[in-house]
Amino acid sequence: MSLTLRPIARADVHRIHEWASQESASRYQTWGPNTFAQTEAFVDAAAAAWFAPDAPARTWCAVLPGQGVVGNGGLTSISPHCQEISYIVHTDLWGRGLATEIALLLVEFAFHQPGTERVQATCDPRNTASAAVLTRIGMSYEGTLRHTMLIRDGWRDSRMYSVLTHEWPSDPSRLHRISTEPT
Ligand SMILES: CC(C)(COP(=O)(O)OP(=O)(O)OC[C@H]1O[C@@H](n2cnc3c(N)ncnc32)[C@H](O)[C@@H]1OP(=O)(O)O)[C@@H](O)C(=O)NCCC(=O)NCCS
Repeated sequence: MSLTLRPIARADVHRIHEWASQESASRYQTWGPNTFAQTEAFVDAAAAAWFAPDAPARTWCAVLPGQGVVGNGGLTSISPHCQEISYIVHTDLWGRGLATEIALLLVEFAFHQPGTERVQATCDPRNTASAAVLTRIGMSYEGTLRHTMLIRDGWRDSRMYSVLTHEWPSDPSRLHRISTEPT
């Protein structure tokens, strides 16, 4: 699969709103379904973060040839040794392995940042598709954190997954598919 990741840009807002406006995409999240203004605020902030050297989080757009932007991937710095991945896929394109591919590229990139020992991810216990992605890329389930977020239907628990640097079957050729030059 020739999926690539490149920095999010303000011009991506209309495509991103196609999924950010949907209940199914934000069901287990603290945000959404978004108004256009809310998606615009998110995209503007995420695009601007690429120009701030010390921003704690980076957001990429996942791009497939012929289909354009198909999702987002994110990396958040939890500590100098730990980074957290996140991902979302266009609702028309679920079940084709795209989130798995985004997650593989994000973890590869994270382990090539100096000092990264651990990469983690969390998901709502009901989010079985996301749990399947994390297990498939080789992360281990560590336990469930209780009431980590207040979402639309009440307090949400979070399943915690991680992979350590010595456990990761690195494939540096993946790095050619991630760019970090904002436009
Ligand atoms: C979670 C999400 C990213 C998955 O994206 P995707 O591109 O469909 O994921 P993939 O196709 O790579 O893998 C999905 C896996 O879940 C499985 N799956 C899909 N829907 C499922 C469901 N309703 N119940 C159980 N498993 C499901 C698929 O079969 C696949 O696993 P398998 O290959 O072992 O069979 C997507 O549903 C999404 O964007 N959700 C909203 C945002 C979100 O929840 N992000 C994650 C935050 S933790």
